[in-house]
Amino acid sequence: MSDDRRHLLLIGIGAGDPQQLTLQAIDALNRTDVFFMLDKGQGKDELLHFREAICRRHIAPDHDYRIVTLPNPPRPQVPYGAQKDDAYRAIVAEWHHRRSAMLADAIQDSFLPGQTGAFLVWGDPSLYDSTIRIVNKLSSTTTLNLSIDLIPGISSVQMLCALHRIPLNQIGESVLITTGRKLQQLIDEDEYQLPATTVVMLDGNSVFQHIQRDDLMLYWGANLGTEHQALISGPLKEVTPRALAGREEVKTKAGWVMDVFILIRQKLL
Ligand SMILES: C[S@@+](CC[C@H](N)C(=O)[O-])C[C@H]1O[C@@H](n2cnc3c(N)ncnc32)[C@H](O)[C@@H]1O
Repeated sequence: MSDDRRHLLLIGIGAGDPQQLTLQAIDALNRTDVFFMLDKGQGKDELLHFREAICRRHIAPDHDYRIVTLPNPPRPQVPYGAQKDDAYRAIVAEWHHRRSAMLADAIQDSFLPGQTGAFLVWGDPSLYDSTIRIVNKLSSTTTLNLSIDLIPGISSVQMLCALHRIPLNQIGESVLITTGRKLQQLIDEDEYQLPATTVVMLDGNSVFQHIQRDDLMLYWGANLGTEHQALISGPLKEVTPRALAGREEVKTKAGWVMDVFILIRQKLL
């Protein structure tokens, strides 16, 4: 029976260390005819090269595949804390819409029904990544007949915990995973509470520097899994200057920086 669906794989590839692909991910790479890669422009080339290197390293020499590089419409910059959530969501929705239209054309043009295309998604596709949302939307709003499968990956949060040798949750306690923007909004409130564990991603401003509290431990990491990986941990107030300097140093050496941090309420340790 002929298969008239186009198969799309969303493959989590880990957050920087090519050794952290799962066997399931490697198997999926070797079933893929076309890889779609978004070129995010200057400074992000490194991430594109990482994906290409993963293909070279993990795909069998006799498996034919193509790479289709797509320009990624730049995400509009939203001023820190200045936006209400609705305005923020509207900006992101418009950006997703533009990306969806481009991807729909690329999928239509780049591979045939019965074949398999894949997106190599940084870290785990479920965490602060829009590929799942965009692809699901494509499936429901276009005439493309898609089957979609998702292969989980190791996220930067898991890597950070492993590298600092800490559990993510404190015993019986909650974990908040949030962004720098949302944490800034929270600490701008007069009296704010943080849960036992707060994980912060997508923070270009090192928001931890604005927190004046004695009861927090900081577990910070940048460019995890790469040759420029940096890690710093200790009482928040004490290690903040080192983390700020560490971020600048990684950025200078690598030409780009991605960092993630965890705040843990000390008395619970
Ligand atoms: C768009 S989100 C993608 C997260 C990804 N899906 C994951 O599972 O880790 C990008 C954010 O993840 C974090 N991140 C991803 N890779 C990282 C790495 N290698 N080192 C440090 N932080 C990383 C940073 O907070 C960055 O701003």
